Amino acid sequence: MVGRRTVLQSGLAAAGVISMPYLVRQATAQSLTGFDPFPFSVASGDPTQDAVVIWTRLARSINEFTPVAAGPVAAEWVLATDPTMTNILRQGVAMAQPEYGFSVHVDVQGLAPDRHYWYNFRVGGSASPIGRTRTLPAAETASSRFRFNVVSCQHWENGYFDAYDGMKDDDAAFVLHLGDYIYGVGRGGVRNHESRKAPATLAEFRARHALYKTDAALRRAHETMPFIAVLDNHDALEFNTDDPAELRRRAAAYQAWYEFMPSRLAVLSMSPQMAIAREVNVGNLLRLAIPDTRQFRASHQVCLAGSDPKFAFGVYKKPCELIDEPERSMLGRPQEIWLEDRLRSSAAKWNAIGSTVMMTPFDMDHDGALYRYLAAWDGYPSSRGRILDQIAQGRVANPISLSGDIHSSLVSSVVRKVGDSPGQAVMTEFVGTSISSAWPEPLAKPMRDALPNNLHLGYFDPAQRGYMRCTVTDQHWTTDMRTIDQTVRPGGQTTTSASFIVESGKIGAQRV
Ligand SMILES: [Fe+2]
Repeated sequence: MVGRRTVLQSGLAAAGVISMPYLVRQATAQSLTGFDPFPFSVASGDPTQDAVVIWTRLARSINEFTPVAAGPVAAEWVLATDPTMTNILRQGVAMAQPEYGFSVHVDVQGLAPDRHYWYNFRVGGSASPIGRTRTLPAAETASSRFRFNVVSCQHWENGYFDAYDGMKDDDAAFVLHLGDYIYGVGRGGVRNHESRKAPATLAEFRARHALYKTDAALRRAHETMPFIAVLDNHDALEFNTDDPAELRRRAAAYQAWYEFMPSRLAVLSMSPQMAIAREVNVGNLLRLAIPDTRQFRASHQVCLAGSDPKFAFGVYKKPCELIDEPERSMLGRPQEIWLEDRLRSSAAKWNAIGSTVMMTPFDMDHDGALYRYLAAWDGYPSSRGRILDQIAQGRVANPISLSGDIHSSLVSSVVRKVGDSPGQAVMTEFVGTSISSAWPEPLAKPMRDALPNNLHLGYFDPAQRGYMRCTVTDQHWTTDMRTIDQTVRPGGQTTTSASFIVESGKIGAQRV
């Protein structure tokens, strides 16, 4: 694994046990000349109160994948307390391994809480751009005001990712990415994928990630804020399958995701399994649990027989008996227990679940029949019920669900079933719209038409792209729906189109 060796060497170098030049000489005899080895710039991610992962990936250019060297390459890294990189706090050498596409992940530890840091990498005579990152507040300092942003779903062909530029003055501690960082199949759009084909091999997934990393606004976001990212269906295509070809494709998807993401998650080379779930603690103010909603779910390719495949592209289905089976789970039982434990053991003032897909029950109608979106939590009512029971029985403080996937802004009170009064709701949910992916009218209309029968929903906007800005204090949780005027060309302007507030101790959001 990259991490262990990196940490060991950087630790030794930082401690002065082994001098850096010695490591550099041992690692690589060749120098990288004739090209800038940092075409993907830099990024950071998975911050804690005393650590953050810094990332880069060595390459000949954004679309040239001939290995940069025959063997591992030593990349020097430096982390400083100022943007001019004068006050150097930590430095070391990390190995860019050919097996991991010459990506570099360094888990820089021993940092101070709630601080900005600047960092860059050097190989031979070349230096990367300087990135800025930030640690999380410590327990004792967390109570004043904490802000982070939530994004999802960035289809390259649907639009430019300039909503990220709307975060420029937010002073957000991190960006929570709830999945669909890349998309597979393309049909063309305001710009085209490098191939019409959905990626299947490691080389193809690398090419797709490389393309996405060239979006200018996404690059600026990575250079200035840490990301906490989780995978959804489009990142790794079909998850719940035993087909060997699909498993190879999933392994390639996981590995490429890791190689291109500033993440602490570890992947084994070409493994179809990956540990994705994790939690983020912001002192005693906020606990954010991020479960893996794809790898362990029971199949959502169900209830096909009784459903109209032409309605809403076959995305919404008529629920069949199977849906209510008690053992049916979105997370798998071990992970359900993990999530319940994270929620019930929390002493945090606010407790959020970062779910790739919507938790709120939502009933739609097609030709007089009940239809639901079974790939979200509506396809796993027993699993959802167990989690809501745990929240209610455990008196989990201020439970909030943050999700994405439906490329729409939505605010709701999570009831157990449609028809329950909003007063019976167990948690508040904010669904964030997409960075660029569209929610076409055949998908939006059935939802819009169903609003009068889903009284627990307070807001629904499938038309606008953007992100959510969450500001958390002891007393209030505020979510701003930040939306962009256009994504068909670079330069879209982002404004706040709606704001919602949850008072501590209450379930449900009020529009402000
Ligand atoms: Fe999506």
